[in-house]
Amino acid sequence: MAKNNNSASETPAVGAHQRIISPSMLSADFGNLERDTKMIDRSAAEWIHIDVMDGVFVPNISFGFPVLKAIRAASDKFLDVHLMIVEPEKYVKRFVEAGAALVTVHAEATSNLLGTLELIRSCGVLSGVSIKPSTPVSAIADVLYAADLVLVMSVEPGFGGQSFMPHSLDKVRELRAMGYKGLIEIDGGISASNAGLAFEAGCDVLVAGNAVFGAPDPVVEIEKMLNV
Ligand code: DX5
Ligand code: ZN
Repeated sequence: MAKNNNSASETPAVGAHQRIISPSMLSADFGNLERDTKMIDRSAAEWIHIDVMDGVFVPNISFGFPVLKAIRAASDKFLDVHLMIVEPEKYVKRFVEAGAALVTVHAEATSNLLGTLELIRSCGVLSGVSIKPSTPVSAIADVLYAADLVLVMSVEPGFGGQSFMPHSLDKVRELRAMGYKGLIEIDGGISASNAGLAFEAGCDVLVAGNAVFGAPDPVVEIEKMLNV
């Protein structure tokens, strides 16, 4: 994967069931961001998860374009950008310019969800739609054809290190039962102890923050999650 090439041509094939780990940089050491990014770059994780929070959609503020650009410069991985911001449509283009290969927006955060997903695709990257634990799959049924990925939240968005909500796997099964053929990603409280369950339920991509960066050896922990 070439650096600074975030076009759809470098993205994984949608449709085939995959096993991808996407470590969340929210749990990285920001004083050593380049070191931690390069560590993930050498690991078996194919993606890097970037949590952008605005303090409005969620009660926390994380980081934005400069940090994404710094991660892009230090890594060749597929950058998976999870926008936890209101009116994400205003910023899609800038996140793509900063290096996103996938932009995921929350169904609850925009009044024009379909238009936002179409805008993301028109920028040449993958489109993702995310639902909070209290949002049913039915809320996004009408826009699934425009989403390359569905991100099922298995914690309330806003913070790393929370406990996994098992009922979120029912939503993954429901999406598969509905015939959704795109990628399914799960985010929140994922570790080697529940990674197998998530893959079996139909997930292709597992986000993990604390489980990876809190492990004695994050590279080994990623291998463990892939080999459950
Ligand atoms: C939460 C974020 C997650 C978070 C996951 O709002 O979307 O990506 O960093 O962290 P863990 O794996 O620690 O639950
Ligand atoms: Zn996330």
